Amino acid sequence: MAVPQGTTTKKRSPITLCAICCLALIVIVGLAILITWLAIKPKKIQYSIDEGWIRDYNLNNSRLTSTFNFVIRTYNPNNKAKIYYDRMDVTVYYRGQNVSYDDMDPFRQPKKNVTRLMYQKNTKDVVLSSDSAQHLKLERTGGQVDLDVKINAKIRFKVGVFKTRHYKLKVLCSPVVVNFSNDKRFQKTDCDVDY
Ligand SMILES: *[C@@H]1O[C@H](CO)[C@@H](O)[C@H](O)[C@H]1NC(C)=O
Ligand SMILES: *[C@@H]1O[C@H](CO)[C@@H](O)[C@H](O)[C@H]1NC(C)=O
Ligand SMILES: *[C@@H]1O[C@H](CO)[C@@H](O)[C@H](O)[C@H]1NC(C)=O
Ligand SMILES: *[C@@H]1O[C@H](CO)[C@@H](O)[C@H](O)[C@H]1NC(C)=O
Repeated sequence: MAVPQGTTTKKRSPITLCAICCLALIVIVGLAILITWLAIKPKKIQYSIDEGWIRDYNLNNSRLTSTFNFVIRTYNPNNKAKIYYDRMDVTVYYRGQNVSYDDMDPFRQPKKNVTRLMYQKNTKDVVLSSDSAQHLKLERTGGQVDLDVKINAKIRFKVGVFKTRHYKLKVLCSPVVVNFSNDKRFQKTDCDVDY
């Protein structure tokens, strides 16, 4: 036989060719998304508590009734990404105990935007541990109380026409020192943001 070796080129079936094309396409699209993402890489969202005060304070035995007020400031430093807040809730803790909680309305935050959110929630007869109640009485006498504010949210970024998946945003503001007096000298608190 005079068939030289090497000319027996493997004939790839159309199915294999198709698979290779698809794979190449997936890699190219993936790379394009990755490069776009790196180019517009979202900058860290910023949170702070700018104002805080307490009204209608009453501690009867260990039952706390009060209205917690906070002005929550959030800044989206990105100039390409809008943020969709699909869910958000805020919890206020006193010595690790959940003393106030509320859902916030969903909202959209434009690029390079500062949004101020008002948290105002009346809590009635929240039962504190006797230890915490004792401590709160002392702090009340001292004129100010240390609280922690935690925010959980579900967000998406929107870049051009693309929306990303959901991210879980976790914000911790601690300690938030709130004055009982009507004197509104509040020490702005920067928060830790994680997502
Ligand atoms: C304090 O709570 C008790 C029940 O635990 C109630 O009978 C009483 O009226 C309350 N006092 C005030 C001032 O709210
Ligand atoms: C805090 O308490 C409220 C009820 O008062 C509850 O609905 C909420 O889930 C609690 N939050 C957390 C984070 O435990
Ligand atoms: C930020 O966005 C909100 C909602 O779109 C808008 O009401 C507000 O005026 C914006 N703030 C600034 C400082 O542009
Ligand atoms: C709370 O108010 C008092 C005066 O009413 C003031 O002396 C104190 O510095 C204030 N504390 C804070 C943390 O703003």
